Amino acid sequence: MTEINAVTTLTRDGDVAVITLNSPPVNALSAAVRQGLYDGFKAAGASDAKAIVLICDGRTFIAGADITEFGAPAGTPTASLFDVQTMMEDSPVPVIAAIHGTALGGGLEVALCAHYRVAVPSARLGLPEVALGLLPGAGGTQRLPRVVGVETALEMMTSGRHVPAPEAFKLGLVDELAPEGELRAAAIAFANKCVAENRPLVKISDNNTKLEAAKGHPEIFANFRKANARKFRGFEAPEANIKCIEAAVNSATFEEGLKAERTLFGGLMSGVQSAAQRYYFFAERQANKIPGIADDTPVRPINKVGIIGAGTMGGGIAMNFANVGIQVVIVEQQQAPLDKGLATIRSNYERSRTAKPEETAKRVGLITGSLSMEEAFKDVDLVIEAVFERMDIKKDIFTKLDAICKPGAILATNTSALNIDEIASVTKRPQDVIGLHFFSPANVMKLLEIVRADHTADDVIQTSMKLAKKIGKIAVLVGVTPGFVGNRILGQRQREAQKLVLEGAMPWDVDRVLYDFGFPMGPFAMSDLAGLDIGWVKEKSHGETIRDVLCEADRRGQKTGAGYYDYDENRNAKPSPFTEQVIHDFIVKSGANPRKISDEEILERCIFPMINEAVKILEEGKAIRASDVDVVWVNGYGWPVYRGGPMFYGDLVGPAKVLEKMKEFEAKMGEQFKPAALLEKLVADGKKFADLKG
Ligand code: CAA
Repeated sequence: MTEINAVTTLTRDGDVAVITLNSPPVNALSAAVRQGLYDGFKAAGASDAKAIVLICDGRTFIAGADITEFGAPAGTPTASLFDVQTMMEDSPVPVIAAIHGTALGGGLEVALCAHYRVAVPSARLGLPEVALGLLPGAGGTQRLPRVVGVETALEMMTSGRHVPAPEAFKLGLVDELAPEGELRAAAIAFANKCVAENRPLVKISDNNTKLEAAKGHPEIFANFRKANARKFRGFEAPEANIKCIEAAVNSATFEEGLKAERTLFGGLMSGVQSAAQRYYFFAERQANKIPGIADDTPVRPINKVGIIGAGTMGGGIAMNFANVGIQVVIVEQQQAPLDKGLATIRSNYERSRTAKPEETAKRVGLITGSLSMEEAFKDVDLVIEAVFERMDIKKDIFTKLDAICKPGAILATNTSALNIDEIASVTKRPQDVIGLHFFSPANVMKLLEIVRADHTADDVIQTSMKLAKKIGKIAVLVGVTPGFVGNRILGQRQREAQKLVLEGAMPWDVDRVLYDFGFPMGPFAMSDLAGLDIGWVKEKSHGETIRDVLCEADRRGQKTGAGYYDYDENRNAKPSPFTEQVIHDFIVKSGANPRKISDEEILERCIFPMINEAVKILEEGKAIRASDVDVVWVNGYGWPVYRGGPMFYGDLVGPAKVLEKMKEFEAKMGEQFKPAALLEKLVADGKKFADLKG
């Protein structure tokens, strides 16, 4: 064995040279990896080896460029990725990439320069750069369509999807599937076969057949753009990826296409969107790290989960666990709502069709119902209460759970607002009590706020964090505070949206500004969708708010064809003269004059108080770090990821500007805009929101 450098070795197996990378955690293409590859291929090429296999140790093949290097000052010059790729493609002996784990981004771009690819069935391949606001900048945009065709390349590159190896095999991206666990031997055997059969040295960049099929058909691109316009709205990277594939089709040579790729890559790399998306990538991973709780803290086994409440929330929560094979029992007080809840779960599974019918049946079978907590919860490892938001009801339930559940069971509440310390206080085991705040629909939404109460034990937090990952959630640990992190910040935006309307902005003005900012919809459109009458009581309604008047006029949102907006039969919204008149009357009655409010003011009034509130949350230690706030808002509330999150955006605007505006608003409109003391300090110290810790 020759040690090429700290992360690369070269060994020999008969006629085959084997280059092995070992650069944990994911063999990213750091400077050392690039240099190791370069020197490794050079040494292998200089030997009498008749073929070369590139394989990785550890959990994965190369998972891409080293994202931590992006935007960092250049270190000592090393071999470029381009140098490595050229050496691979031009190798006079066959080069075989042996893939396990993931071959992503730059990793797949390296593999595409091998003459052949062998993969185990569990491997996944893809060009996920779009998720980082980028495009594959190492020839991937030019090589992938040459292998899989233009349409598939468009889909893969704009979705960033990780394609399972068996599908990649069908697409021609993988040449042979190797038995699981036998990749090295299979790749060496494949290499020997190439030599014995004198197989051609396939150079993807030379083969234009699949591009020819798309030449003279610009409608392929036009149709793709049109079909995905909604999905790509606001993002720069999908369009740049599409343009690269267009360049692959329309350029006279491979090199000309590469040039277009390089220019478009440079544009994205220096832009704000990619900076935000790369920041967000690490923010999400950072959220898993809990200071003071080591990653190897033992977890409690969770094999059976109890849920109280078979409503939309309880049912959605149940599906998460059944999806990963965990048994669930749901308890309701009456048979009818229990039956209804279980039926809804069944029909949700049938409609979603994400799993094969037999798998769906298995999942449905894992969820049972019961009318008795005593019976159902004796042996559960975790119970999640998802009933009405009333403290007396929750306390009653937790008193019962304390009596029923076995020692060590985790007792969780899905409350979105109530004080979990108070709930825990009725039990003799507050160390086992935690908040698991799912977002609706709970089987779809990724965010999970895990709420640490005063006495919650470390292993209960650790178990919850690991369990969240297992069920595919992105978890953020927060503290007990009204509305926790997400809803507490949302409260600021909602209040300002309502106030702006009472000063003269129309609901559709507020909605448009927030939609253009990148939210999927504004607060008024959202209310119409959810139903204006949620929490509205007819008997108690006396026209005191705009909502009261709208509901009294039976304008209860989309479901009644009218709310803040008017809706046509296809639920297309248009501004409503009725609502406009109602608003006008309210303003006149208050003795004020409606005023013209600029888009800039709408945005600043809605967003800056959110940033200020986030700072207060951190000041109070209710979130661990600024980036956790961003993870909550991107995942749970539709904050556009290309703007990073409220804290990242605050840094873009500049803390000084946010403070100045908050002071200006405070002087004009009072207390509610009072800047957080920590915001003042941040500005005085010349620091950034991103530096804040809770
Ligand atoms: N660069 C640097 N670090 C990376 C990385 C990368 N490309 N990919 C993952 N990591 C780090 C993570 O930050 C994490 O670090 P910590 O343990 O310190 O938090 C660690 O590797 C493990 O990552 P995950 O927690 O995400 O592990 P996982 O097993 O859940 O997922 C993965 C593994 C699927 C590879 C996932 O990490 C991932 O999707 N990585 C990004 C892949 C990617 O986008 N590649 C393209 C890069 S851009 C590019 O290649 C441009 C180009 O054209 C040259």
